[in-house]
Parts: sequence; C-alpha cells; structure tokens
Amino acid sequence: MSKGLKRNQVLAGLDIGTTKVTCTIGSIGEDGINIIGVGHSPNTGMRQGVVVNIEAVSEAITKAKEEAELMAGVPMPAVWLAIGGAHIESFDSQGMVAIKNKEVSNEDMERVIEAAKAVRIANDRQVLHVLPKEFKIDSQEGINDPIGMSGVRLECSVHIVTGSNSAVQNAIRCADRAGLQVEGLVLEQLASALAVLSADEKNLGVTVVDMGGGTCDLITFAQGSVIHTNVIPVGGNNFTHDVAMGLRTTQNNAEVLKKKFGCALPDMVNEEDAMEVESVGGRQSRTISRKDLCEVLEARADETLKFIREDLEASDLMKELGSGIVLTGGASQLQGLVEMGDFVFDVPVRKGVPERTGGLTDVVKSPAYSTCVGLMKYGMTRQRETKSIAPIKGSVFSNWAHRIKELFG
Ligand SMILES: Nc1ncnc2c1ncn2[C@@H]1O[C@H](COP(=O)(O)OP(=O)(O)O)[C@@H](O)[C@H]1O
Ligand SMILES: [Mg+2]
Repeated sequence: MSKGLKRNQVLAGLDIGTTKVTCTIGSIGEDGINIIGVGHSPNTGMRQGVVVNIEAVSEAITKAKEEAELMAGVPMPAVWLAIGGAHIESFDSQGMVAIKNKEVSNEDMERVIEAAKAVRIANDRQVLHVLPKEFKIDSQEGINDPIGMSGVRLECSVHIVTGSNSAVQNAIRCADRAGLQVEGLVLEQLASALAVLSADEKNLGVTVVDMGGGTCDLITFAQGSVIHTNVIPVGGNNFTHDVAMGLRTTQNNAEVLKKKFGCALPDMVNEEDAMEVESVGGRQSRTISRKDLCEVLEARADETLKFIREDLEASDLMKELGSGIVLTGGASQLQGLVEMGDFVFDVPVRKGVPERTGGLTDVVKSPAYSTCVGLMKYGMTRQRETKSIAPIKGSVFSNWAHRIKELFG
C-alpha cells in the first residue's frame, strides 16, 4: 500500500470523454484498488476532448455519478479528473543545479525540477504535468533515482504537458455543476497507461494509444519514465462517419454496423457474410456484403495507424519500443485492428484493458474504462492522508459489493 494512505479510504476517477462520461469509485485495499462503484452515460457535449456544451456535459456527469454512487453506497469523493484531447501540447525541457551537500537530497530534486520547469508558457495555457525523464550527475547519464548519490552538479530532463486554460476550466466547471469537487488533473493517456501497463513494459519501452471517439492520445514510456506524449485528431467517430458516407446510411446505423460487423481486415471475414443496411430519406433498407463495410474501415484504420507510426518515427521512438504498442480506448475494440497494427508497426501490438484491480473487476474490464481505472491508480500514489476522505463503513461496502457481484454474474 502507498505511503500516507489508509485502508478503506475511497477515491474516484472521472473521465469526460468525447462520446461518454465514465466514473469509478474505489476503496483502497490490501493489494491495491477495489472498484466499488461504476457509472456511465453517453456524452454529446464534447468535440475532440473539448467541452462545447456545458449543460449537456454536466447532465451526463450527473447521471454517471448517481449510478456509481448507487452502486457503491457512498457519496462520490473528490475526483481525479482526466484531461485529454486536441488542446493538449507537450515539450521537453532541461534544468541544472549545484548539489548542496555533495549528496543529492529531496530538496535538490525539487530544485532541479523547478529549474527545468522555468520556461515561458503562453498565457492561455497551464502546466498539467512535469514528468522527469532522466537525471544526470556530473558526467554520469541515465540515472532514474539520484537520491543519495554523490556529485557536484545535478541535471534533469523533463517532459512538460500543458493544456488550454479554457478547456481545463470548462471541464472543471462541468464537474462542479454536477456537484463534484476536483482533487487533481491527470493527462488522459497517462491515466489509461497506468491501468493497462505492467512495470516491465514501462521499463522495456512501450507506447499506449488511447483510441477514443474524437482523438487518439499517445504516450511512450522507456526505462520506466514518460518520454513522449501526443494527440492525433482522428478517432472512432471518423470510422463511423466513413461508414455512413460509404454505405449511404445514418450515423446511428453506421455506428451499430461498425461495432457489430466491422473489421479492419476484410480478408478476415467470410465472402458470403451480408448485413441489412438502413437507407436515408425514407428509402427501403438494403442488403450489403460485410466485406464492403470492412473495406471502408480498412482504409481509415490503415491511415490512422500510419499517422501514429509517423508520429513515433518523427520522434525516433520506434527503436525504444521493446514491449511494442498497446491499443486501448473504445475504438481499439474494432476487430482486426491489432492484427493490422502488427503489420503496420512491425513491433508486437496488443489490446489493453484495466488490470490488477479488485472488486467489480468484470465491469471495468473493457478498454473504455482504462482511463477511469488509471485515474484512481494515479490518485492512490498521490493522495495524502492529510486530505479528509470519508471512510467507508465495512458493512455497507461488503453488502453492496456482494450484491453487485451477483448482478454482474
Ligand atoms: N466494438 C467496437 N468496435 C469498434 N469501435 C468501437 C467499439 N466499441 C466502441 N467503439 C468506438 O469507440 C469510440 C469511443 O471510444 P471511448 O474510448 O469509449 O470514448 P471517449 O472518446 O468518450 O473516451 C466510439 O467512436 C465508438 O464507436
Ligand atoms: Mg477517452
């Protein structure tokens, strides 16, 4: 258990996604987080991770919150809020300080990170994370944890992630209108990565791609540290739009067909498979070959994965990916995408779902919950005992957990 945390403390994650709001409530147990409440609601008030309709988003949050609270049997504590989407930017920076007492202390670490942070940020942006990549003492490079080491000069390179003030403030305002306090902000793909990766993968080098409705959000780890983040403004909604155009059907029908019959590799589906497609403008529905649907999806999937590869190549990161690439987020569920990824990236590709949690594990074992579960994992390492978090009464929790387990089989 992390320092400063008590067993049975509760914490919560809120993910305001482009297509849906999810929230989870967890309690801290012996081996990590037990999920005790999960809420979900479709969201129509966002575009590419940015709030465009406060009313609609607040309503979606309220619904998801109430569902999670009912399940957990406790009020939702202050939330760790995911921030992601097209407004996120990131860059690298360096700092250098003299080591005070010839041995690196916590204070030296704080000072060198402060020094690396001292760069001009545009007035309309705010820093979300300053993520240390590596430290250097005198001429020795590649140090991960310099505390206690001897030397004269401490250098640090960091990865700084910023978001647009208005996008961040609007997300907080929506949570506030739904009656939720915000405990802290976490980059969406960082949260997703924490839910789906093992420590080994982070050490060996891996990229997680959170494929949502509006954007693909990337994060790369090497030697345990974050070395790269980026956002590609293409997501599952583009796939749906292509299907609607290609098969001349409604967005709703295109979404259903994509999820039910879609595949990124037409060769994986049967020649004879056919499906009913709704027409627009009151015309009769038609029967279309499943292959036609998959060919539309193949083109978009190929383009999307190549955008991702180009981004990784531009930062010279392909050689760092000893553990390959992990696809998560709702849009990663498209059949055949992982197989296509193996081919496009030429490194191992796998699907990522939240791992290593207790409680309602079955409910959150979907790539659409990666961000929310990761938010709680992040929170668990950050939340201090000094913050007052209402403890759960053992009986209430165990009763509810038991009943919910029954409900979800
Ligand atoms: N089985 C599936 N096959 C293909 N796409 C899917 C599937 N399930 C969900 N999606 C797509 O995932 C996208 C939503 O991703 P998600 O990560 O849940 O959302 P958000 O962007 O709100 O975080 C939508 O475009 C949806 O169509
Ligand atoms: Mg998302």
